[in-house]
Amino acid sequence: MKCNFDPHTPPEIVNGAWKHAFPVFHWLYHVINHPNFMFYITTYKDNGKNNVCLHAWGFVNSDPNHATYFILSLNKTGHTYQNVQREGVFCINYQTQETPGLAKTVHHNAYADDEIGAAGLTAEPCVSIHAPRIRECGLHLECTVLWEKEIPQSSHVVLVSRIKYVTLEEALLNTDYREKLRAFGTHLCYTQQINPLTGEMNAVGGEGRLDPALFEDW
Ligand SMILES: Cc1cc2nc3c(=O)[nH]c(=O)nc-3n(C[C@H](O)[C@H](O)[C@H](O)COP(=O)(O)O)c2cc1C
Repeated sequence: MKCNFDPHTPPEIVNGAWKHAFPVFHWLYHVINHPNFMFYITTYKDNGKNNVCLHAWGFVNSDPNHATYFILSLNKTGHTYQNVQREGVFCINYQTQETPGLAKTVHHNAYADDEIGAAGLTAEPCVSIHAPRIRECGLHLECTVLWEKEIPQSSHVVLVSRIKYVTLEEALLNTDYREKLRAFGTHLCYTQQINPLTGEMNAVGGEGRLDPALFEDW
């Protein structure tokens, strides 16, 4: 059986019992809840301190002739957006080993904080852009902004950037994709889940890893 949901005509429970349940995302996001890949955006604040933003709404794409680029949906109210506006650059850091301090970066968000050092992590300068990166991460994408566009009725913009420089751990060059995935230790996240048909809600979000054994060669 297929279930249909129209964002403009929410199920009764959304405007009733769940009226104030979704302060961060639209209720439909909690219906879809397809896991996203996690990464960390690093930038400099205007006081020169390191800024970290745990994020999951972006991906790499590419064109054979011209560019490899990173596309990002970014909240205009965050510090990262301000820093990217000012500097025109950012670094994407992908986690490749269990580093508990990484997720803790969300708790260090004050203007005066060195958000990398405060989480017990090591900051190092990017090679090609004016931004910091997190040494404990195994894949760094140094990006320069090409353009941004507002998303109507949203506090987000879509931001397209060119990947200018890449640094990765040698293990990620493994041509066996399962081994490569093992080296990535790819982290996915999901959010609070709802079933508006039954009224069930699971307030727990979380994260998980891709199981390399599940991948098949085409
Ligand atoms: C999986 C995941 C979990 C997050 N958890 C939190 C959180 O607990 N608290 C929070 O304020 N932001 C959380 N965020 C959102 C941003 O990481 C966070 O707001 C960020 O610190 C904003 O940084 P900025 O203002 O420096 O750009 C989370 C994002 C993701 C992808």
